Amino acid sequence: MYYIGIDIGTSSVKTILIDEKGNTIKSVSREYPIYYPQPLFAEQNPDDWWRETKSSLIELVADIDRKKIRAMSMSGQMHGLVVLDKDDNIIRRAILWNDGRTEEECKYLNEDVGRDKISSYTGNIALTGFTGPKLIWMKKHEVENFNKIAKIMLPKDYLAYKLSGVFASDYSDSSGTLYLDVENKKWSEEMLELIGIDKEKLPKLYNSYDPIGYIRPELAEELDLARDVKIVIGGGDQAVAAVGGGIVGDGACSISLGTSGVVFANTDEFRVDNENRLHSFCNANGKFHLMGVTLAAAASLKWWVEDIGFSKDYDLMINEAEEASIDSELYFLPYLMGERTPHNDPFAKSLFMGMNMTTKRGDMTRAVLEGVAFSLRDTFEIMKDMNIKISEITINGGGARNEFWCQIIADVLNVKVNKVNSNDGPAYGAAILAAVGDGLFSTVDEACASFVKTTKAISPNKDNIDRYNQKYQAYKAIYPKIK
Ligand code: XUL
Repeated sequence: MYYIGIDIGTSSVKTILIDEKGNTIKSVSREYPIYYPQPLFAEQNPDDWWRETKSSLIELVADIDRKKIRAMSMSGQMHGLVVLDKDDNIIRRAILWNDGRTEEECKYLNEDVGRDKISSYTGNIALTGFTGPKLIWMKKHEVENFNKIAKIMLPKDYLAYKLSGVFASDYSDSSGTLYLDVENKKWSEEMLELIGIDKEKLPKLYNSYDPIGYIRPELAEELDLARDVKIVIGGGDQAVAAVGGGIVGDGACSISLGTSGVVFANTDEFRVDNENRLHSFCNANGKFHLMGVTLAAAASLKWWVEDIGFSKDYDLMINEAEEASIDSELYFLPYLMGERTPHNDPFAKSLFMGMNMTTKRGDMTRAVLEGVAFSLRDTFEIMKDMNIKISEITINGGGARNEFWCQIIADVLNVKVNKVNSNDGPAYGAAILAAVGDGLFSTVDEACASFVKTTKAISPNKDNIDRYNQKYQAYKAIYPKIK
């Protein structure tokens, strides 16, 4: 038996095929463009997602016994606004999670309506990337488009619709809309009224591991698949990546070191930070999670190495950083794209501080790696304040391949950092959800226990902990002073 996981990322779609033992048989990636029509805007064409997904599925199943495929599921970039008219035409390009055009709409929600009210309706406050503020923006700036809306969906819901013909979403992804009542897992009537949308325009809600239907017959024929391949709705990329990394028990915690960096903790009960510094969302295993996001994690390193460091040689620059001293008084704030947690400031800026004539490139590279680790610690500290007991974390994402960086994170957080057998986080998690939706396991937690294994554990280096505690205090003092 085979299961397919599809991850609709920001730069590419990745599809993977696993067998019933959890082994990855094959994976295929396809890129698509992202449009920045003006500063702060970030858009994609849902047709591009679908075309590249279909083409990657064709390659994925090309040389296997296709009739053994039982189910597929999805993970998607969160918060993106996809709108269709009454004939299912795409009304405009999707407005993405990293689009910052809704500053004014967020101000209206958080200040005029009030943070406390918004938080009591949803468990969260308005952030520029979230979907609800984008709808308010559309109502104001694109009235004609807004009036044409018949269906409102998230990126992976669009794929689910193309695959199955069923208009559906799940609780984890819908948590990032700001119109889901996260605690009670239903659309928030109050928020829908504030935004000005009818419930009929929203999809039916499911658990991430629920099948919503079968593959459309024409598509089954085109891909030469069985007609009873189940489509399991899947979830938002962070929650699904957590499933891929086995982050399902109470207090289980992960760090995803991708373009953005995310600290994620599963909680069996619904929890909200009293200052709303963390996102309080549903998890893909039927529970809840807390999450803090640093917007430029691996993006900071990429910017430094490729654009500024006059080298594209990561190995060389990481080696230089390893030779640099921990004792420098050099700091880097990784706010190249503004910052979400803990500052929620789209206009925050990055800086290096503390250079002198002895400073070398390796010192600066080390400061970048440390700066990202400190910004992850900001979220970690809020979780500790909330009494979430975290004894170890799992790390995934592209940046997790960098062993030196993983060690810095273990030292800065003073926690054991584990790596697991699959680094394909979201796509692998989606394939797990497909297997659960097909009935191979009765719960997501059971599937994770069977498929996800720790392959390496990195313990904090005792010699570095005190020094990093001091450096973290200094790091934390910088932003309020320069803001
Ligand atoms: C989560 C978030 C990102 C996007 C894109 O809140 O904004 O993880 O889902 O990956």
